[in-house]
Amino acid sequence: MWRGRDVITMRDFGRSELEELFETAKYMEKYAKSRVDFLKGKIMAVAFFEPSTRTRLSFETAMRRLGGDVIGFWGAEGTSVEKGETLADTIRMLDAYSNIIVIRHKLEGAAKLAAEVAESPVINGGDGAFNHPTQAMLDLYTIWREFGHIDGLNIGLMGDLRYARTINSLLEALANFDVRTFLISPEYLRPRAETLDYVKSRGLKLSFHTNVEEVIHELDVLYVVRVQRERFLDPLEYERVKGSYRVTLEILKKAKKHLAILHPLPRVDEIDHRLDNTPHAKYFRQAALGVPLRMALIYLILS
Ligand code: CP
Repeated sequence: MWRGRDVITMRDFGRSELEELFETAKYMEKYAKSRVDFLKGKIMAVAFFEPSTRTRLSFETAMRRLGGDVIGFWGAEGTSVEKGETLADTIRMLDAYSNIIVIRHKLEGAAKLAAEVAESPVINGGDGAFNHPTQAMLDLYTIWREFGHIDGLNIGLMGDLRYARTINSLLEALANFDVRTFLISPEYLRPRAETLDYVKSRGLKLSFHTNVEEVIHELDVLYVVRVQRERFLDPLEYERVKGSYRVTLEILKKAKKHLAILHPLPRVDEIDHRLDNTPHAKYFRQAALGVPLRMALIYLILS
């Protein structure tokens, strides 16, 4: 199901593929701090034109834990992109030097273009405000590991739901499961209409809310995203909304005991740091699971 596939958008992957990925990731957890030679002799190229801590480092760690090697760059500095080389030509070179390519780019559609140019599989590590499919896979994997299932859960998504690419991909991923989704944001930061139309057509149950306190008692999972300064054209608008959606100890008094708080990170101030030591805080475990999840992904595609 996975062999040789590009990973560009969540829409290309269904429930059975995700379940195979989760089972493989669980198997990989025991190797996430050691080294095996499942992919000895394979090379992964990383082309990160935008900043990243978790995605890039967990992909690199995953490939090295599997016995493979990594080449690539962060930012275009030092590459021939600075001399005006096109994205397509840069990808052609990475394709020639490696077995699999991971790309992050500020432009929506960059990963799709790379997949069209490259013969090797291409994985989208985030493009513009549109897609971050491996983050959505990781988000669902974390929920699956926490609860043992995804069906039947009440899942709140809170913050800037319009410009966060993780939200777009997560909604598309959730459409494979029988969950209730609570969208908590200012009205103008609701997810884009095209995404909402798609997930509604897949039968995802959605409701819209402007205040987390209205629904916190119903939630099993609260997935929080930051308000992204870089996505706003007007800095005053950013200043106006940035503090509106913040999880505090006070709000959690009404939450279920087992509420799991997830965040793709990095966070700014949308989660009170005092939450870090509560059983609700699952965001660091989520980031750590990025290694076995991405080990499973690379392994299934290349093995
Ligand atoms: N979650 C995520 O994509 O983090 P990075 O931007 O650090 O990769």
